[in-house]
Amino acid sequence: MTKRDDILFGNGDEPLSNLSTNPHIDEVIELGRRRVVAGGAAMGVLAFFGVVPSVTQAADSTAQRAGGFALKRSRVPFSPVPVSRTDMVIVPEGYTATPFIPWGTPITGRYPAYLEDASNSAADQADQLGMHHDGMHFFPIDTHKAGRSSDHGLLVLNHEYIDAPVLHPNGPTVSNGRRTVADEVRKEINAHGVSVVEIRRGATGEWAVLPSSNNRRITGATPMSIAGPARGHTLLKTRHSPDGTSARGTLNNCAHGATPWGTYLTCEENWAGYFATRDEELPRELSRYGVQGGGRYGWETAPGEEFQRFDATRRAENATGDYRNEPNTFGWVVEIDPFDPASTPIKRTALGRYAHEGVVFAPVKPGRPVVCYAGDDSQNEYIYKYVSREAYRPKRSNGSLLDDGTLYVARFNPDGTGNWLALDITDPSFQSACAAAGVVFADQGEVLINTRLAADVAGATKMDRPEWGAVHPDTGEVYFTLTNNSSRTEADKPNPRAPNPYGHIIRWRESARDHAGVTFNWDLYILAGPENDSSDPKGRPLEDHNIFASPDGLWFDDEGRLWIQTDMSGSQLNAGPFGNNQMLVSDPATGETKRFLVGPRGAEVTGVTVTPDFRTMFVNIQHPGEGNTPTNFASNWPDGAGRRPRSATVVITRNDSKRLM
Ligand code: FEO
Ligand code: CA
Ligand code: CA
Repeated sequence: MTKRDDILFGNGDEPLSNLSTNPHIDEVIELGRRRVVAGGAAMGVLAFFGVVPSVTQAADSTAQRAGGFALKRSRVPFSPVPVSRTDMVIVPEGYTATPFIPWGTPITGRYPAYLEDASNSAADQADQLGMHHDGMHFFPIDTHKAGRSSDHGLLVLNHEYIDAPVLHPNGPTVSNGRRTVADEVRKEINAHGVSVVEIRRGATGEWAVLPSSNNRRITGATPMSIAGPARGHTLLKTRHSPDGTSARGTLNNCAHGATPWGTYLTCEENWAGYFATRDEELPRELSRYGVQGGGRYGWETAPGEEFQRFDATRRAENATGDYRNEPNTFGWVVEIDPFDPASTPIKRTALGRYAHEGVVFAPVKPGRPVVCYAGDDSQNEYIYKYVSREAYRPKRSNGSLLDDGTLYVARFNPDGTGNWLALDITDPSFQSACAAAGVVFADQGEVLINTRLAADVAGATKMDRPEWGAVHPDTGEVYFTLTNNSSRTEADKPNPRAPNPYGHIIRWRESARDHAGVTFNWDLYILAGPENDSSDPKGRPLEDHNIFASPDGLWFDDEGRLWIQTDMSGSQLNAGPFGNNQMLVSDPATGETKRFLVGPRGAEVTGVTVTPDFRTMFVNIQHPGEGNTPTNFASNWPDGAGRRPRSATVVITRNDSKRLM
């Protein structure tokens, strides 16, 4: 491809945009002299778990002692899967992984069949599963007891982005740096978004898609409404929505959340790269998010008014005459009611605007606020939490709880404590910080549209690309993956990775176990990496059966096992010791960690959800075949030799049909 084509279809990660002088988590770790919990030989003086497990001592043991507790048997009772580079999904002996609902599966409308040569039209794609499956949740359909069916439900999943060379028969058409075929671009937009799929388990155990009016595709063009403090804001007014109350589509939907009231949240992550601007002077709403130059797929160059919104260049007298504010309608968390296919998705602005990875809720308590946590997956960005103003009321609460509350950002102190800093224009501390920084926000809507800047001002701690979070079901401790950070330059750290190619998992406990509170204690759970990692002076505790890098997906099952998914790419994936991307299971009670699954070539392993009976697990395999071209597929998963690679879900069951663990 030409240079312009490289730009058009290159890496969609945002450029660095955090120029604040806030401390980096690495400096915090340095100052705190902290040690790692899982797999670490030493513990920080402020460790709050009381158990000092070792990954190595715990492996494969059925009777062991950890931190003074005699464990009857391993809670991860399977033979770990070795590092692998095959083009298939590998699970432990005794389990089966079956591909399900690959990209192109027809689910709505005319149910157009998937065509192997990728000649399905844009309209076909709007009736088919999108590409690049990511965050996902199983919503049981009430066929037995209220909402707890394990053989019938709605599977809702994100489609993060696209593999443009694979989406079209001959790849995307580009001429003189411009997209010339409108239907191709429409197909790309329709391959993004979210799918709602009604599925049922048959008598023989196989899952199938049902033709159903519940099935739905939400795409990069689906009408959305805007709610919360930024609704109607001047900075959200566009030619499409002069009153700033609606928007079109959701893009780069990475991870997700499932609300306590039974709806789905989809999170807009690397959306900035979809927009172009030719303006030299950019407002902070764009510059702090990395909007610059041309769009990653060149949508703004396609013929037709419908694509003009991807060009944020100022072209008119005022904001309602052009799309300068279109990027401001992205970067949000979007709520979807999967049980109401006619409902309009809602962008919930109170949760802030950034590169949202996902959202995870703390356990709800009647009469207490709803609390959720989220990360901003970009280098040196932050971790946030939201606390609703109104209390949770079972069977009565709904998404309006996400419109009125306080958004906080995390500061990780060197001594192992932490503070939640309110990004609230009525908060005296925030007002003082803004005054000291000389930053002015006209109203709370402007704070939220500029969430990153607000967090800079408040004094948040820069993190190594926060990805998924998970809340331990018993202890309430919150775990977050920090996938890696190639922009770190300072080398004299006790966690001396400058840059940090491998990532780690951090966790914290809210003071008095009050998720709505403003202080916490934190620790590191796992430093990812290879065996005998020379960049770790304490020695690498991970072994062949559990080495990994670039942790991304994270999820707790009901019994407190932590499932970790990886998103390695480039040379780390192709030439590192870790093999293909993978999913591991870790028991925080002991530190025992084992590799449970290895994905096919070039694919990311992401998204995990189970049926209530814990007999079926759904996991997503995204973008098999890194570096595919229209004529040379780097993977042929799942359809086999010579076939076009397709992102897909895999259904994981035990061969004896029992609970997975
Ligand atoms: Fe889309 Fe942060 O992974
Ligand atoms: Ca991710
Ligand atoms: Ca990732």
